[in-house]
Amino acid sequence: MCCCCCECGCYECYDACCDRCCCGCVSYDTRETIFYCAVCLLLVAAVVLLAVLLAAYGFIRHVSITVESASLTRFNLSSPSEATALAYNLSLTLAVRNKNWAMSIKNTKDLEAGYSFDGQRFERVKLAGEGEKHPAGKTRVYHLDSGSDNAYAALGNAGVAEFKKENATGVFEVEVAVTGEVRYQAHYTKCKLAATCPLKLQLAPPGTPAVVFQKVKCKLAAADKNC
Ligand SMILES: *[C@@H]1O[C@H](CO)[C@@H](O)[C@H](O)[C@H]1NC(C)=O
Ligand SMILES: *[C@@H]1O[C@H](CO)[C@@H](O)[C@H](O)[C@H]1NC(C)=O
Ligand SMILES: *[C@@H]1O[C@H](CO)[C@@H](O)[C@H](O)[C@H]1NC(C)=O
Repeated sequence: MCCCCCECGCYECYDACCDRCCCGCVSYDTRETIFYCAVCLLLVAAVVLLAVLLAAYGFIRHVSITVESASLTRFNLSSPSEATALAYNLSLTLAVRNKNWAMSIKNTKDLEAGYSFDGQRFERVKLAGEGEKHPAGKTRVYHLDSGSDNAYAALGNAGVAEFKKENATGVFEVEVAVTGEVRYQAHYTKCKLAATCPLKLQLAPPGTPAVVFQKVKCKLAAADKNC
């Protein structure tokens, strides 16, 4: 260890060989500038990193759900005019999009779709299980094919009347409700997921021309606090 003679304003500058003065080294002022520049750069880097993390994980963007296509090939009260049973065949294509570019979404409960007629649920279909992950930026597409000869629906008199009314037109109003509970990556709160998709479905039994279906955007229920 040696200390050099710094007559020309060098600051704590050590010469490698201890045999000459180190006045050629970086001056105190320059060192200070470099030091502050480095601190400044580090701060900027930290702020940028923080901004990126905040943009990636700070703000939750909720999923968007659409019904891409749907076809109803049978919809009838099961004989003999039972007020609680529907005979139906319905196929649906549901698309669920994770609009977050960095956050994946994990199901903390099963993701389900429920079908209702006149407010009465007559079917529940599981889309994805608890624990399943939906990667960032990806769209999951579910093709659902369901049917029954005797699906329970507590239609009652009012429901039967509504059915008859719609049956006369051949267009049925069926509501699809998507429900679940999810957790967004890097977040602790579990968020309820609920969306409703009101559909107007033209009955098209096999052998009749296919009906063009206009894509329907489902309406998301208001999010819970912190979601
Ligand atoms: C619908 O149900 C009624 C009675 O419940 C029956 O008479 C009719 O044939 C059924 N229609 C079709 C298309 O199955
Ligand atoms: C409707 O669903 C029933 C029961 O799932 C099935 O047996 C039948 O083949 C289906 N019919 C049509 C037209 O899709
Ligand atoms: C619904 O309408 C169809 C034909 O339009 C008819 O065959 C059927 O019986 C009706 N269903 C009921 C339950 O009235």
